[in-house]
Amino acid sequence: MANLETIVSLAKRRGFVFPGSDVYGGLAGTWDYGPLGTLLKENIKKEWWASMLEPHIYPLDSAIISTKKVWEASGHLEHFSDPLVECKKCKKRFRADHIDGDNCPECKGELGKAREFNMMFKTHAGAVEDESAEAYLRPETAQGIFINFKNVVDAFHPKMPFGIAQIGKAFRNEITPRNFLFRAREFEQMELEYFCDPKNADQYFSDIREMRMKWFLKLGIKEKNIKFYDNTEDERSHYSVATTDILYNYGISDDGFEELEGIANRTDYDLKNHFPGHNWTGEDFLEDKDGFVPYIIEPSLGVDRAFLAFMMDAYDEDEIGGERRVVLRLHPKLAPFKVAVFPLVKNKEEIVGKAKEVFDDLRKKFMCRWDDSGNVGKRYRRQDEIGTPWCVTIDYETLEEGTVTVRDRDTAKQERIKTEDLNSYFQEKLS
Ligand code: GAP
Repeated sequence: MANLETIVSLAKRRGFVFPGSDVYGGLAGTWDYGPLGTLLKENIKKEWWASMLEPHIYPLDSAIISTKKVWEASGHLEHFSDPLVECKKCKKRFRADHIDGDNCPECKGELGKAREFNMMFKTHAGAVEDESAEAYLRPETAQGIFINFKNVVDAFHPKMPFGIAQIGKAFRNEITPRNFLFRAREFEQMELEYFCDPKNADQYFSDIREMRMKWFLKLGIKEKNIKFYDNTEDERSHYSVATTDILYNYGISDDGFEELEGIANRTDYDLKNHFPGHNWTGEDFLEDKDGFVPYIIEPSLGVDRAFLAFMMDAYDEDEIGGERRVVLRLHPKLAPFKVAVFPLVKNKEEIVGKAKEVFDDLRKKFMCRWDDSGNVGKRYRRQDEIGTPWCVTIDYETLEEGTVTVRDRDTAKQERIKTEDLNSYFQEKLS
């Protein structure tokens, strides 16, 4: 496992993540995903959807910008704030709960009184900048799901329990964005809102908690680096009666563990607020005649925090044949490229031609990378560092025997495989 600086540096050097607005000196709390980061992020999202899309879970993609009324009803305008203090000397601002002592952490000047700072980004929809045009960038994707609850019910008539799931951007004007992707101002969330009978809410809360932990372990996160943490009453958000966080060992706090995902029992708080006049009995709602407002169980995961956890967990340094190497042991399903194809030499037409053939065939099914620069050892190192699980080399034996070398990233072991078997070989490995 690596520390944060190592990952930041690898991410920039190899094209995973760049600082936002980089050429203009940067904009704190924003990050641009490079080519490899884009692929890794897409794979994380794909695996999340794969774990969510059961017949009774409905996907949604709601608007990022929404009317002020949503945030009045949700309680965000009133509650979604962090305590802020300003240094009287250097005028820098800090989160009051992130500093030790009474003085400015930068210039040791005297700090002013703490006040609440709302973290939502406000804008105006349309050409008139008056109060009626006030709109907000969502600080969580969840509210987009709640306000579409009735639309989904009316269109699909689902039976209880059912869920609505969404992946999308969220924005928070964090006072002190820091620790790379961990605390950003623009980030992405993957959220499921699971609507159920209040009688069964505790059971679903516990099932979803287990389901979410299994997802991380299945995708290769090491057990020693991840754990549950049950929030105390003081730590919970205003809408929650039970919250368990899944913590990951990012190594940035005292004991190293920080929140990766939150799982909350939001009760009927959100639906009651958005549909105050709604008749929750009889035909008006589902097929249930008991007349309850559904409870909501919500697992909410930041894509960027998951990205960081997968990168950190996969990072390793070892020695192969007496040479040090950096290797990203990403789960093959998450790896940006599954296979890299190398012609052994660049100047032998038959070898290059055959390698192109193999590459063109494999890339119909798998994300593949072509590499013909430097010696094969160097190419292996390059692919190890970006997490490519398999490298295929086309050599003289390929021309004579019809076989290629397949080299495994983790063990560095090589085996000869017939070119016509390559497709099924990788298919099997990835299934
Ligand atoms: N809908 C519930 C909700 O938004 P949250 O605990 O505030 O709950 C959920 O956020 C997840 O979103 C967190 O567990 C984290 O993974 C991610 N997240 C929150 N704030 C973030 C930030 N500033 N930067 C990156 N990820 C963030």
